[in-house]
Amino acid sequence: MIDIHTHILPGIDDGAADQAAAVEAARRLEAIGVTHVVATPHVIPGVYANDRATILAQVTHLQAALDAAGIRVCVLPGAEYYVEPELPEKFDRGMLLTLNDRGRHLLVELPATGVPSYVDQVFFDLLVRGVTPVLAHPERNRELAARPAKVYRLLQKGVLIQVTAGSLVGLFGRDVRKAAELFIGHRWVQFIASDLHGPGGRLAALGEALPKLTALLGREGALKLFEENPRRVLDGAPPVEIGRQKEYRPPGGWFSRLIGRMSAGN
Ligand SMILES: [Fe+2]
Repeated sequence: MIDIHTHILPGIDDGAADQAAAVEAARRLEAIGVTHVVATPHVIPGVYANDRATILAQVTHLQAALDAAGIRVCVLPGAEYYVEPELPEKFDRGMLLTLNDRGRHLLVELPATGVPSYVDQVFFDLLVRGVTPVLAHPERNRELAARPAKVYRLLQKGVLIQVTAGSLVGLFGRDVRKAAELFIGHRWVQFIASDLHGPGGRLAALGEALPKLTALLGREGALKLFEENPRRVLDGAPPVEIGRQKEYRPPGGWFSRLIGRMSAGN
């Protein structure tokens, strides 16, 4: 497996507390069959000001520690950017770290509750630069979980979707799990990742999510989300689809469908 969303670098965000925790996380990842991890520390203006140089240096440092410990996990550079209007301009100035630094896929997170009005423009401006936003765990965003049609609309514009393994196994509650299942069932999701913050629960969920996903998509489909698509992203290549993406139709009769369509347009 390849994990494209981890907070494994120690001490630079709310992830692994220290190097021992980071090494232990890598040891556990190796034990569940993970060969590569992308280190994606938070970059949040005013909170975590991690820049390219810091992240690249930390990746090299952690890899040396894993090599010394005999852990066969490859650590690759990346970051998780909190969405802000300046992202496209920062990309132009060479400030951003795309996944595996290929200049192709940018991991972006939204606020936990809503979707800021400038998100569409930011994603559009990235896409025209040849950078595809990978939206981190939309199932954990309250607005997107409640209005799945908005996720479909983002997909139609070219955004990719990463669901967190822990969401599928219920770590964040029933509503988040249901949203994750719905997104996957509609073939909207290209990646599953751990979003681990240390050697604890979210890491183990990666292993537990594989059989759940196999039940939803079959073995071949599940492996595309855990292995094939992450590998393609490491090479800067577009992911493969799992099947035809289905349009979201709210449950109920024509009236609730109409309401759903109206609220999706908000
Ligand atoms: Fe994250």
